[in-house]
Amino acid sequence: KEEIDAAVIDGAASLEEYRIKFLGTKGILKGLFGEMKSVANENKKEFGQILNDFKQHAEAKYEQFKELTSVNGDSATSSLDLTLPGDDIPVGTHHPISIVRNEIVSIFQRLGFAIAEGPEIEDDMHNFTALNLPENHPARDMQDTFYISQNPDWLLRTHTSSVQVREMEKGKLPIRIICPGRVYRNETISARAHCFFQQVEGLYIDENVSFADLKQTLYFFVQEMFGKNVKVRFRPSYFPFTEPSAEMDISCLICGGKGCNVCKHTGWVEILGCGMVHPKVLENCGIDSNKYTGFAFGMGIERITMLKYQIKDLRLFSENDVRFLKQFTSAT
Ligand code: PHE
Repeated sequence: KEEIDAAVIDGAASLEEYRIKFLGTKGILKGLFGEMKSVANENKKEFGQILNDFKQHAEAKYEQFKELTSVNGDSATSSLDLTLPGDDIPVGTHHPISIVRNEIVSIFQRLGFAIAEGPEIEDDMHNFTALNLPENHPARDMQDTFYISQNPDWLLRTHTSSVQVREMEKGKLPIRIICPGRVYRNETISARAHCFFQQVEGLYIDENVSFADLKQTLYFFVQEMFGKNVKVRFRPSYFPFTEPSAEMDISCLICGGKGCNVCKHTGWVEILGCGMVHPKVLENCGIDSNKYTGFAFGMGIERITMLKYQIKDLRLFSENDVRFLKQFTSAT
């Protein structure tokens, strides 16, 4: 055993020498195993165990040096430097949409909003009817819908307002939720629109919730998201599920208000729709509209991400080009 330990191996040649000497067909171990027949029967077991021990010891050393020799080449088995830092393992990056979604969600969480989620395949009632959009209502055209052919009542949700309906139905008040998630619309794919995209919608229902609360909440959001200098304006708008309704614009971050394709040369970009929840919607969901009021809002994450990162074509988000995706790193 000592002889095995003492053997010096410093390259492929001495490794081979070692192998022949200890492990070869005419090697020391083979010879010792040959002695087995002359060992008394009662000692055979012990003798065999000792030899096996040697053999394992010799083989282990051989394997260890074989590996070192193949890593380091012939010359310097001792040059293997175990203190060198390892090779970098490339880590993926978060998708820009995920980064921005997490950011939006965390801003509203700080205001006390909880996350709510729901199914992407919805029924007509949760996506439309309960939201004051009965069948044949012309406003359904605002959201071109994919229906599921197996069942005319099923569709791919066109907004996450459906999650708000599910939450209101539970009847637990007050409600303060945000609903992030993927939605689908039958739109022609272009630099500004896709047949699927991501939304964050929000809902706050309690006694005495006012339009001033809505405005202040959204101001806070925009300043957290885009910084204190961003300008904001509200425009009156129409949604069947809110009354009054508004859309909120911010000053265009791409051209700084000078005019570009993203803001269609107006200097303003619309980033969300909002309003006070229509009393009919509250009643449809079993909430007493004499006692409770609420506000709701909804935004597309793609638009916000494009503004934040100066991305001019929304199709990039779903093409999975690593050269694009690799540019986004974030702690969130
Ligand atoms: N659900 C609307 C949309 O997807 C956005 C919205 C939500 C508007 C809540 C007003 C209130 O376009």
